[in-house]
Amino acid sequence: MKTLILSSSLSKRSRSFILCHEVLKILSSEGVNCTIVDARNIKIQPTHNEVTDEMKALAKQIEETDNIIIGMGVHCYSINDSLKILLDNCFSAATGKFYGILCAAGGERSYLSTMHLTQICMNEWRMIQLPRVVYATKKDFKEDNISSTELLERIRSFSEEFQSIGSKLLH
Ligand SMILES: Cc1cc2nc3c(=O)[nH]c(=O)nc-3n(C[C@H](O)[C@H](O)[C@H](O)COP(=O)(O)O)c2cc1C
Repeated sequence: MKTLILSSSLSKRSRSFILCHEVLKILSSEGVNCTIVDARNIKIQPTHNEVTDEMKALAKQIEETDNIIIGMGVHCYSINDSLKILLDNCFSAATGKFYGILCAAGGERSYLSTMHLTQICMNEWRMIQLPRVVYATKKDFKEDNISSTELLERIRSFSEEFQSIGSKLLH
């Protein structure tokens, strides 16, 4: 099973990146062929501008992977701007793929924001979502580390279920 983790935040101290990295550690230790793409390393051009080489490389990685985990930060009760650009320009080969969502937010009340990502992935590419979202708030972190044991448990459950369902869907 080949899994691509796309961390979409451009924040230097991205908390959703930390979630992505934690899942990467767990899946890799379970022998999953897992790669992380950090959007901070991608030159991102808005739609209707030239698609950059890094964006083309991501589109190819999306095409070649079996499934995808998307890390997002909540912006104004929705997905962050860089993720929207990457979806609009790099996901054309994501049709039918299994995916999961790891979400970082400032507060507890924005948990429905991930539904915008669900809407896009389901309506545009008929993607199949793991019915468990990891949603974390700033209270779950101390500086750049996860301080909540409950969040770590939820990340573990997410990783186990993603691997188990993801590999079954490949047969
Ligand atoms: C422009 C902007 C809008 C935001 N809007 C929300 C919001 O609607 N709800 C919320 O809970 N947090 C909001 N936040 C806080 C972020 O979700 C939070 O900082 C989170 O850690 C972002 O993910 P990241 O650290 O991976 O970038 C916002 C932050 C920014 C910069």
